[in-house]
Amino acid sequence: MAKIAIANWKMNLLAADGVALVQDLTTRLKGRDVEVVICPPFTILSAIGQAMRDSGFSLGAQDCHGEDKGAYTGDISAKMLADLRCYFVLAGHSERRMYHHESSEMVAKKAAAAIRAGLVPIICVGEDLKVRDENGHLALIESQLKASITPDLDMAEIIIAYEPIWAIGTGRTANLTEITEMHQHIKTVLQQNFPANSFRVVYGGSVTDANAEEILSLDAVDGVLVGGASLKAESFAKIALGG
Ligand code: PGA
Repeated sequence: MAKIAIANWKMNLLAADGVALVQDLTTRLKGRDVEVVICPPFTILSAIGQAMRDSGFSLGAQDCHGEDKGAYTGDISAKMLADLRCYFVLAGHSERRMYHHESSEMVAKKAAAAIRAGLVPIICVGEDLKVRDENGHLALIESQLKASITPDLDMAEIIIAYEPIWAIGTGRTANLTEITEMHQHIKTVLQQNFPANSFRVVYGGSVTDANAEEILSLDAVDGVLVGGASLKAESFAKIALGG
């Protein structure tokens, strides 16, 4: 089975450009063994969902609220996303942790809400450069994982995205040794703490069509989460095909 390629469009693209991008991707990947998830901005979820009806791709969102409904002006619940036929949702992307002050406890609530709504949460974790330089990265990721995942997840399917903050949008990726070490560490922590759940662990941070092949060749890597390079059909199609 192909490894999963998740596109995080972030706050980019209006409907017409997003639809054109999905159509281009569909043409390039038709009949190929790929697992593709597209996470557009909320405003074009519906249009992109329509455009990819026959593509075999899955729709994802970039965030959700931790409650199912209520007086939370401007927020979007996981049930609303499921209503738009989303199947995945990012939770705790580092840009949300940074710009919206999302704590791991909030991320855990979002992930639980996603599971209640029948979505697969993609829980993001990652350390900043200072922590890495001080050799605190393994301990930090372990505590982020434990705090970002609630123990009562039933048998839910969950994806963990390891995205070192110093590698996001910087053109600098973690090297293969660093990725392998961290992914193995994450899998060990998950097995010890959440043995009933099935997890996949994907890597993100400056993944491009030039480095995806070597990253995806690692046994410990179950897929990639791609920002910048997911905005071009040619590069993202290549990544989805394994680099
Ligand atoms: P990038 O973003 O590929 O542009 O580094 C990845 C992400 O933030 O998910």
